Amino acid sequence: MDHKVHLGILLGFTLLSLIPEADAQRCPTTCRCPIGVIDCSDRGFTELPNVTRPGTSSQLSRVDFSNNILSVLNIDKLFEFIVGLQVDELDFSSNMIAEVEGTFDAADGKDYETLNLSRNAFTEFPRNIIPVNHARVRFIIDISYNSLTELTTEMFAVGDDMTLPGFQFIATNNMISVIHPQTFQGVDLLDSIVDLRFNNLMSLSEDFAPPRGVETLRISNNPWRCDCNLRWMINFSNRLVNFTEEDPPNCETPVSVRGRPIFQLQANDFACLPFRSGPIRQNFVNMDTFVVRCPVTADPPTFDLRWDVWLPSPNGADPIQLCFNSETVGFKGLQTNPRAAFRCTASNNAGSVSIALEVLYNGQQGLEVPEDPLVPIPTQC
Ligand SMILES: *[C@@H]1O[C@H](CO)[C@@H](O)[C@H](O)[C@H]1NC(C)=O
Ligand SMILES: *[C@@H]1O[C@H](CO)[C@@H](O)[C@H](O)[C@H]1NC(C)=O
Ligand SMILES: *[C@@H]1O[C@H](CO)[C@@H](O)[C@H](O)[C@H]1NC(C)=O
Ligand SMILES: *[C@@H]1O[C@H](CO)[C@@H](O)[C@H](O)[C@H]1NC(C)=O
Repeated sequence: MDHKVHLGILLGFTLLSLIPEADAQRCPTTCRCPIGVIDCSDRGFTELPNVTRPGTSSQLSRVDFSNNILSVLNIDKLFEFIVGLQVDELDFSSNMIAEVEGTFDAADGKDYETLNLSRNAFTEFPRNIIPVNHARVRFIIDISYNSLTELTTEMFAVGDDMTLPGFQFIATNNMISVIHPQTFQGVDLLDSIVDLRFNNLMSLSEDFAPPRGVETLRISNNPWRCDCNLRWMINFSNRLVNFTEEDPPNCETPVSVRGRPIFQLQANDFACLPFRSGPIRQNFVNMDTFVVRCPVTADPPTFDLRWDVWLPSPNGADPIQLCFNSETVGFKGLQTNPRAAFRCTASNNAGSVSIALEVLYNGQQGLEVPEDPLVPIPTQC
């Protein structure tokens, strides 16, 4: 054990002595800087340390500020000591960053290949982390484990009409429930991966334009609501099925399709709850007889319909209950049964809705149809 530690220290000194003077200056005090790395992780920094401006340019494989207590990522300050260097990975994971100041721009020597902002405190996507100009062949942003709630068109606003080859956008484990349909417009993503697993996505607007040139779109492990509003997703012309085939998403609701892969459903499996499509219309044949149609519709337009009818018994016995499975219900005998209550229930995969109606026959005043039925229909047939 001791032996290894000594060897490590010895090796460390050996490497340090190989680092040119400019690189040694570049290392903030209290950080460690083996060749090609600035390791400032786990140092309790609440802000970026002050450093001397560097001299010659070279390459850095990693600048590591992970596991500190930073609340702001100040890009200009960061690049005071690494400007012009080819930086592969900027690791700011596990801080408390909620805000980014400054901009990345390859033309100003401020560029990166991987920016790790995982496990921070972002509630909004910081638009200035997308470089104005980008000079690398790969481009990875990890903003997983934050508190993003939506992706907006602002996301790529800085670099509109840009091409981002090898872009990986990792935003898993946020709370994203809304993706603006045009979020990914204005950029060409070549061989890209957009990873939105473990978010709060329930639906996606039909005019959602998939990222141009995206190869893989990971949207599984979201609580997808597979109702009629999501039916468009299975249309092959939008190619969503191809982008997601590596990791197919499943439905969470309605219960009838829970756990089913979205792209294995048929068009009619995407059902929305039946809804009342107008007022109840009683078609009185005469003062003793009338017909009622259940004013309900649904998407898709097929659903089960049932009528429950409740009649007080004329001779004081138990009320009579009847059930019908038809679109309309006719009733004759109001003169002898002055009160009648009706309820129609429409059901499909998404659930059911009920509409109730009560009719009172009031002797000389004729029929009364209260807006809210007074007679509760006791049990279902
Ligand atoms: C860095 O320098 C600025 C002024 O140059 C000073 O206000 C600030 O306190 C310094 N920060 C640290 C951490 O030393
Ligand atoms: C970002 O950092 C986390 C650790 O905090 C790590 O698990 C993850 O793999 C890193 N992401 C990338 C793209 O390297
Ligand atoms: C699929 O999408 C195309 C293009 O938007 C549209 O023309 C077509 O009607 C859609 N097909 C279905 C079954 O919705
Ligand atoms: C989508 O995938 C299917 C089957 O994997 C393939 O036949 C089809 O050509 C693909 N469509 C596009 C537009 O890439």
